[in-house]
Amino acid sequence: MSDWIEVGATDTLTPGGVKVVDADGTAIAVFNVAGEFFALEDVCTHDGGQLTGGCIAGDEVVCPRHGARFSIRTGAALTAPAYEPTACFPVKIEGNTVWVRDDRWD
Ligand code: FES
Repeated sequence: MSDWIEVGATDTLTPGGVKVVDADGTAIAVFNVAGEFFALEDVCTHDGGQLTGGCIAGDEVVCPRHGARFSIRTGAALTAPAYEPTACFPVKIEGNTVWVRDDRWD
């Protein structure tokens, strides 16, 4: 089973914010959506660009390159030119610390 990666204190990731961490070579973007935490692979499935760096609109992230929208909650591609979901990862909160784990290879 893969290890949990520490993201940081909950109060350093404010609502509407995102923080990218490295999980054994995988960039994982952890989002705070109105106090709930979600994690996606920081990869746009349109052509493999970085997903973060654009804007966050509620529970959607907009790819900065060509504007595809993804659900922060599920990783689903919501608009063209992306059609495939990006990976979604489990998040846990222990005390006031956020943790994430890449569970694809478990
Ligand atoms: S790389 Fe994200 S929409 Fe094209």
